[in-house]
Amino acid sequence: MPGPILIFDSGVGGLSVVAELRRQLPGAALAYACDNAMLPYGTRPDAWLVARILAVCEAAVAASGCAALVVACNTASTLALDALRDRLAVPVVGTVPAIKPAARLSRSRHIGLLATTATVGRPYTERLIREFASDCRVSRVAADGLVAEAERHVSGDAVDEAAIRAALAPLWQVPTLDTVVLGCTHFPLLRDALAAASPWPVTLVDSSAAIARRTGQVVSDPDPRRGLDPSLATAPDARLARALARFQFAEPRLLPLG
Ligand code: DGL
Repeated sequence: MPGPILIFDSGVGGLSVVAELRRQLPGAALAYACDNAMLPYGTRPDAWLVARILAVCEAAVAASGCAALVVACNTASTLALDALRDRLAVPVVGTVPAIKPAARLSRSRHIGLLATTATVGRPYTERLIREFASDCRVSRVAADGLVAEAERHVSGDAVDEAAIRAALAPLWQVPTLDTVVLGCTHFPLLRDALAAASPWPVTLVDSSAAIARRTGQVVSDPDPRRGLDPSLATAPDARLARALARFQFAEPRLLPLG
């Protein structure tokens, strides 16, 4: 019997991918792992982050007995996908900013990239832009504050509209922008608030549908659901437990790191 599909993120961002996985693979057993002890990832140094992501993912894959790992984190994927694939025996599906679909959708050829400081500056992101959006103006905005905002919102708090407006403000300097890439998995969890804070209508694009499709190809015979999906975390956290429960995951178990 194959194991569950394991979704990994620094925090609750992977839940935006869970919603799409449940829609596309309704019978599949899922498990969720997050490194909430070290959240946020987006402002941490690369070398530290690679070692940490390998350690947490290795432990979570072993603890869950998963059939595949979905790295539902742009900050982790744009840095550590190759290292994870070298280290782990299960297939690994990554999440990278949806530059390609955004460039296809933009009529004005001016797109925004809203992501963490790390993702905005990564060579991987640079390559995506060069390869798929070379004829577009790309306004890159680091919005690390929105990660904490999404964490609070998913556990039940109202959004701070002023904080969201302030985080988005650098996007609106040139009025031709018509498409915004949500290049951090936390941000689709704030989609309604982001749309409401936009001074003119823009298309918000994320990677979750493509990730769920790719996961379905990788796990052609998903494990059927057997009750409440398990979850793993690196620190006890009542807010996180509330957010996970809203997405039908059990109270997180502490993940032992070797
Ligand atoms: N959800 C993560 C991403 O997609 C990062 C959040 C963080 O900074 O930890 O980039």
